[in-house]
This record gives sequence, C-alpha cells and structure tokens, in this order.
Amino acid sequence: MIRLALPKGRNLAVARAALAAGGLDLGSLASDQRALRFLLPAAGIEILMLKDKDLPLYVEEGVADLGVVGSDVVGEVDGDLLVPLRLVGGRCRLSLIGRPETVPRPGDHLRLATKYPRLAQRLLAPKPWTAEIFELSGSVELAPILDLADCAVDIVQTGRTLAAHGLAELEILTEVDPLVVVNRASYQRHRSALCALFARLEAAGVAE
Ligand code: PRP
Repeated sequence: MIRLALPKGRNLAVARAALAAGGLDLGSLASDQRALRFLLPAAGIEILMLKDKDLPLYVEEGVADLGVVGSDVVGEVDGDLLVPLRLVGGRCRLSLIGRPETVPRPGDHLRLATKYPRLAQRLLAPKPWTAEIFELSGSVELAPILDLADCAVDIVQTGRTLAAHGLAELEILTEVDPLVVVNRASYQRHRSALCALFARLEAAGVAE
C-alpha cells in the first residue's frame, strides 16, 4: 500500500486532475471537506488529506510515501524530500504586493507581511532595502490595505484578489508550481509502482 498525501489548499484541484489523467480517478472521495484519509483498494493507495503547510513533514517522516504540494510551501522547510516531477497546471507566482505607490526605494526599511517568512527572507536578501517580516496565516492582502504592513509577499495567480482590493503586483519574486514530493526511503521501497505512476503522469502531459 502506498500512502499519497494531497493538499487541501489551492493545489488539490490540480492534483486531482493530474491523477485522473494518469489513471487514478479519486471520484467524489476527495470532495468531502471533512475526510482525512480514504482507501483506493484497487490501486493499492491510501490518500491523506493534509493542510499544505503540514504535508512536507508527513512525507519527510515517511508517514506518507509521496505527496503533491506547492514549491512555495516546500521553500519554507528544510526537509529532505525528493522532487521527481512538477505538475504542469497550477502555476502561479510569489510576488511583492502592495498599494501601487508603495514601490520600495533603496535604503527603505519596510514592514512586510507574508505566509512565507523564510522564503521571503531569502528572496529579498539581495534587495537594496530591508524588511521587518510579520508572519500571517492567510488574508495577507489585508495587511497593506489596513496598514498592518507596508507591503506583502504573497501568491498571485489570476491577479483578481489584488485587483479587487486596489493592490498592485510590485515585483514577481519567483514562479510557484505544484510539485510531486517523495520520501527518500519510499522511493527505494516502492520504486516500480512510483515510477509507473510518474510515467503515466508524464505520458498524459500533466507532469514533467
Ligand atoms: C492565494 C493568495 C491570494 C490568492 C491570489 O491564497 O493569498 O489570496 O490566492 O489568487 P488570485 O491572484 O487568483 O486572485 P490561497 O488560495 O493560497 O489561500 P489562502 O490565502 O487561504 O492560503
């Protein structure tokens, strides 16, 4: 039995569609918001439904053999994870956002809100300005709107949330993709089953 961890957040739909294209249709199973785990006996797979932020730990510890999670989340952890594939759908970007007039100038020291403090610190290190970082768990756009912070580092996909709140994407810091992450020992133990699944995903054009 292989244990596959799926993220409850933005990448769940992308992961479901990719798995279905690769021959693993979850049907209505992953639609129940309260479901934490369920079996696909015919496929020899158990699915765990996890908060995105918790998923890397489950895979690193080998509780789950593999999972799907965004590169934004992986960038926040030091985990020892194999990343054999990225899913083709669901690309977004991690950007510096704020009110249009808040473009940082050299020498500025800004208050910056984000769900990704470590990633933000790394990505902003080369900038000619500095930031005091506040970690938030969600609704990050509110921070610059309500002056909790001068700007924020957050996910932008369609740009609709920014537009709806009069905010601007001041700078794209990095691209973000959903990744397939695998536990190192599981990759050895289940090599043929995992490689067969990855080959089906690649052949269906949903992963590379
Ligand atoms: C992200 C981000 C924005 C939104 C941007 O939230 O924090 O709120 O998506 O997407 P858009 O550009 O298509 O409008 P996410 O879906 O990761 O949820 P969360 O804030 O609840 O974690």
